[in-house]
Amino acid sequence: MSDPYSSLASEEEATQARIADAMDARCLEPAQIAIRREYLADLELPANAYAVEFGSGTGHVTRDLITVAGASRALGIEPSQVMVDRARKHFGAETRLSFEIGDAKQTGLEDASVDLVLMHTLLCHVPGPQDAVGEAYRVLKPGGILAICDGDYDTATARIADFDPVDQIIRFMINQNVTNLWIMRQITAMLSERGFELGRRRGHGYVAEGDAAYFLTVIDRGAERMAETGVLFAETADALKAEGRRRLAANKFFGFMSYVSQIAHKPAG
Ligand SMILES: C[S@@+](CC[C@H](N)C(=O)[O-])C[C@H]1O[C@@H](n2cnc3c(N)ncnc32)[C@H](O)[C@@H]1O
Repeated sequence: MSDPYSSLASEEEATQARIADAMDARCLEPAQIAIRREYLADLELPANAYAVEFGSGTGHVTRDLITVAGASRALGIEPSQVMVDRARKHFGAETRLSFEIGDAKQTGLEDASVDLVLMHTLLCHVPGPQDAVGEAYRVLKPGGILAICDGDYDTATARIADFDPVDQIIRFMINQNVTNLWIMRQITAMLSERGFELGRRRGHGYVAEGDAAYFLTVIDRGAERMAETGVLFAETADALKAEGRRRLAANKFFGFMSYVSQIAHKPAG
């Protein structure tokens, strides 16, 4: 199966809605909010800055461009109508925010018109990520900022002991849902080849906390997909989903992934 996030608009609406629920759950987790704050809060934007998120999903991260990064206006660009509708439902009342259907490789934005472009967990899903990087370069003003953050997917784990079967579901989901596991290990070369000046690179450890809402969505979707594809019988998938919840109830659940952020600048010219 190919990564459904890379062509979300063509997935069934119920699948898109379920993915939107998972995105909402992830965006609202305090540990995820903290990661976004870590790399967005100290960006130095000019007055009246205009910021654009490529791949804006359900809109929470686009809102951060105003509330955390300090932009005056922000636009989220996203190919899935389901996501755009969800983002407008969440944030339609915020006049400085807007969401439009579009493609990170061809946004239709004017040359040199944007102060900040953000790609948060987008590039791992885009075949040919250098085209999205090139589009960011085109639309940024001289001196403009590109902020990229994505999972370092090889580090994802739910393993609490050797041969833990729950961990296999995490590995399976990544195999099925991520186009490029290595994007944050390749991004510095991609950016400098395109002419960006490299800024700060940081690692951000994400440990699932509280009700582990997002990690449980990964386990549920992964176990169900394993049953659909004939890897597991349905009863075994249900048992693994129950295992995740039993671990949580018994304070035995562990979920971790490292994220990496990279800041870059278009040369001032
Ligand atoms: C994992 S979600 C992240 C959404 C949001 N940035 C967040 O962190 O909550 C990736 C999003 O990128 C979108 N996407 C995939 N390919 C895209 C492309 N070529 N251009 C713009 N968005 C794209 C998907 O539809 C999906 O909503």
